[in-house]
Amino acid sequence: MSCSLKLKPYLTHLQGFTPCRTQSKLLHEQFDCLIDSFIADKVGLSDDFLGEQLASQLKAHLIDLYAGQQFHSAGIGNQEVHHKDQSTRGDQIYWLDRQHHHPLETSFFDLMDRFVLYLNQSCYTGISGYEFHYALYEKGSFYKRHLDQFRSDKSRAFSMILYLNELWVPEDGGELCIYHSDHVQTIAPLSGQCVFFKSSELEHEVLLTQAPRMSITGWLKVG
Ligand code: OGA
Ligand code: MN
Repeated sequence: MSCSLKLKPYLTHLQGFTPCRTQSKLLHEQFDCLIDSFIADKVGLSDDFLGEQLASQLKAHLIDLYAGQQFHSAGIGNQEVHHKDQSTRGDQIYWLDRQHHHPLETSFFDLMDRFVLYLNQSCYTGISGYEFHYALYEKGSFYKRHLDQFRSDKSRAFSMILYLNELWVPEDGGELCIYHSDHVQTIAPLSGQCVFFKSSELEHEVLLTQAPRMSITGWLKVG
């Protein structure tokens, strides 16, 4: 996919961060790619948001935590209306947290901070927070069609999913289907791929997976 940089030519600096030029340019290309495709089509896609090294380290961390039984079954709804329902959603999750002081979680959040700053500066989105979890779908799991924004809590503004499956093949299933008004978009959960869309707008589902499926999923929040 080619993404133009024409929308934000004036954006060249991020406050408080001085990475080497090349690294910064590559990162901004990924950010621009995600934002420009979101503007064009309601679903932002970029194919190397995390970078190969961070993606494979995060995947190894996820596997470690899962093996150490640190994951729990995901629920549906927020704190007010929360229940676990395996017939709707079968993934296991682990919430990332800066307070864990884990170097990989810290690297991930540093990257998200840079993206949020870039997004707020270029699109005036007013994002003031976020939440992210690892997700693991065992073979036989899925997540039925749903919307990410809760009825009683509108703080989730954008959904972001970053896949960690290096060896995914079509037989593995577990594609993400996004329901646009006039078509369904199917996205392979391939490592590197990052998906970005409005949490209040697009219903989506995770198809039945035939192999373990790993990701980081989260939400950029307002208010
Ligand atoms: C979710 C979700 C999609 C995916 O966790 O809310 O829709 O592709 N995930 O993992
Ligand atoms: Mn969702």
